[in-house]
Amino acid sequence: MKKIKWGILGLGKIAGKFATGLKDVEGAELYAVASRSKDKAEAFAKEHKATKLFSSYQAMLEDKELEVVYIATPHVFHHQQSLLCLDHKKAVLCEKPFAMNKKQVEEMIAKAKKENIFLMEAMWTQFLPHFQFVLDQIKSKKYGEIKNLKADFGFPAPVDLDKRLYNKNLGGGSLLDIGIYPIFMAMSTLGIPEKIQATAKFHQSGIDEETNMIFEYKNGVEAELNSSIVRQTPTQAVIQFEKATIILNTRFHEPTNIRIQTPAGEEIKEFEVHSNGYNFEAQHVQKMLLEGKTESSEMTFEKSLQLIDLLDKVRYRIGLKY
Ligand SMILES: NC(=O)c1ccc[n+]([C@@H]2O[C@H](COP(=O)([O-])OP(=O)(O)OC[C@H]3O[C@@H](n4cnc5c(N)ncnc54)[C@H](OP(=O)(O)O)[C@@H]3O)[C@@H](O)[C@H]2O)c1
Repeated sequence: MKKIKWGILGLGKIAGKFATGLKDVEGAELYAVASRSKDKAEAFAKEHKATKLFSSYQAMLEDKELEVVYIATPHVFHHQQSLLCLDHKKAVLCEKPFAMNKKQVEEMIAKAKKENIFLMEAMWTQFLPHFQFVLDQIKSKKYGEIKNLKADFGFPAPVDLDKRLYNKNLGGGSLLDIGIYPIFMAMSTLGIPEKIQATAKFHQSGIDEETNMIFEYKNGVEAELNSSIVRQTPTQAVIQFEKATIILNTRFHEPTNIRIQTPAGEEIKEFEVHSNGYNFEAQHVQKMLLEGKTESSEMTFEKSLQLIDLLDKVRYRIGLKY
């Protein structure tokens, strides 16, 4: 089997988790890692056994053998760095949120289409077995229609104005970082809402500490969604159907189990996950690349456009400008 040569751009927290997941992907080689710091690149390359290391992102992109780049930098850099990778004819898997607004995402997609190169948003939840199972239940209408959804994601993050979560210049705040998951849950299960209500509490740095949203759909169906970086919340998703309630247990966006409650009782469903869950999205990218695809069949351009459009709309309602 031909090995696909991966590179990681930006060696922060998620980069380490992705590199761990990649070890579980058949046919994947962690070929290159790039950091702004040589020491960091050396340490990361040693820990994750990368073939090559670079102390500049640009230098890594100039490597002729590198095939696909995983972008793991703060949100504000995703747009420009995706374009840069595509300019260098490298396929791209870019962390969520794909970019800061819809216009940027449109530009990235247009560029990928023009260059005929693969581009995908790293919305890893899409590829997790429990999530796929829930989507299948919805599609089969086994439990009838969805009546209501509640999804939240909250944890108390230490206030540190230098770190990306509290730093507005790095795209900080709860909505773009973790609110994206409850929104993705609503979008995947109920589709595009007819109306959006949203309120937020802001930190003095200008980032949203907490955002509360209600998405309204036809027939009075609602999704209550929230994100917080100031308090612990259950971080689960509860989907109420006509004939059952499915609970994606904490933390619902990562590998987890689910509970199915019906009048007959409660069933707990477990899912087999060998690695940390980041392997699934990487495995999918490999499959797409080997099939010569330039767009994911799962995390499509349309989905990414819908997702960023919802984030833009919520931001407009709460008055969050970057
Ligand atoms: N899918 C998931 O489960 C998940 C989880 C967490 C985060 N994320 C996403 O991944 C992205 C990175 O998050 P993270 O938690 O890994 O962040 P992080 O720990 O702060 O790491 C970000 C990395 O980006 C690079 N970078 C480049 N320019 C930077 C700048 N001006 N300031 C700070 N860092 C800069 C740095 O790498 P070098 O110093 O090596 O150049 C840094 O280590 C975010 O967009 C986030 O939404 C996804």
